[in-house]
Amino acid sequence: MKLMSVVGARPNFMKIAPFINAIKQHNASSGLPKIVHTLVHTGQHYDERMNDNFFRSLCIDAPDVNLGIGSGSHAQQVGYTMIAFEKTLVERQPDWVVVVGDVNATLACSVTAKKMGIKVCHIEAGLRSGDMSMPEEINRLVTDRLSDLLLTPDRLSTENLSKEGVDKSKVAFVGNIMIDSLELQYDRAALLDVRSIVSKNQMAPKSVFVPPFAVVTLHRPSNVDKIETLLPIVDFMIQVSAPSLTVLWTLHPRTLKMLKEFRILDKLVECARIILLHPLDYHEMLRLNMDAAVMITDSGGLQEECTVLGTPCLTLRKNTERPITLREWSGVGVLVGNDMNKLAIEFQKAIRLKRSPFRPELWDGKTAERCLQQIILHMRQK
Ligand code: UD1
Repeated sequence: MKLMSVVGARPNFMKIAPFINAIKQHNASSGLPKIVHTLVHTGQHYDERMNDNFFRSLCIDAPDVNLGIGSGSHAQQVGYTMIAFEKTLVERQPDWVVVVGDVNATLACSVTAKKMGIKVCHIEAGLRSGDMSMPEEINRLVTDRLSDLLLTPDRLSTENLSKEGVDKSKVAFVGNIMIDSLELQYDRAALLDVRSIVSKNQMAPKSVFVPPFAVVTLHRPSNVDKIETLLPIVDFMIQVSAPSLTVLWTLHPRTLKMLKEFRILDKLVECARIILLHPLDYHEMLRLNMDAAVMITDSGGLQEECTVLGTPCLTLRKNTERPITLREWSGVGVLVGNDMNKLAIEFQKAIRLKRSPFRPELWDGKTAERCLQQIILHMRQK
């Protein structure tokens, strides 16, 4: 059995690490036919802090193939990935290609494999925001339409696929694979010291870190690409967040670039209670999340991690493909869009809340095993 799995960007790494472990465990069990596994990295994320740190800390072996695509427009990233991935498929001839999440690598590699008649499995299938202005929604829709096996993280996602008419035999509810990484890495992260994380990653050493603290992460074009949306967020952090607690803002490369371009980075640097951090590694972010009074984010994965850890989570988006993380579904998340008044109201509520961890069904740390079992089952049925 020849399996090829694909990663491209930061949020893929914590999803593929447990899957690769599951393959290793399978291959270590005697009596079972061995799986020949190849890991392909499209190279979409390439910085030390966006990439190498995650491979090291999650103990992922170096990719067998790196397509070296790098940054570019969406069409460039997808187009170059398809051209390079086609060559890899011709050389390696896998039986199945496994893609995770919703980044450009997910779309490009599922389309390429399917056009070559190779079966595709999508881990984290069925999530829907309904928002076609998000590139991730397009990536999810196309990938799910083409996939031969769709592994869903929750029952809402399974329902979404059923509503779209996907044949039931192709869908299996397996749980959330990212929570496998959280379970596996929790104890190691818990040993880290928050102060040391802050001093190690601070962009411009200045004020002393004093808890309690909020964690901020933003990178979506809808929040950071226009000054009309980014400036009010910066003002909120300075005028509302910082007077209440310390703000630890981890800066994605895109956000840093835009703050510089709009000449508003200095405003943040000058505010004594806002500490700007480089992108953190997996364990550092998990450790901050364990103690944060509130998370302010537009990340999908963080909404899920906050749910399991119970960190109140304010999401700067109008919608989410992960509704199970919202308060309406017993989660911790609230959508505030770009409405700074709503953000201010919810922020004041959130910092007074007690943590309330919630574990959706099958977010139990064993999803990777179930993914592999399903793939093997479907390979045999071929
Ligand atoms: C991508 C994913 C998004 C995910 C996010 C996590 C898609 C469509 N988007 O968005 O779903 O939530 O990753 O980070 O695939 N850059 C660097 N170094 C890097 C990578 C990027 O400096 O290692 C800079 C480049 O200037 C680049 C910008 O960041 O233009 C954005 O990177 P890109 O890969 O286009 O998308 P993300 O915004 O990271």
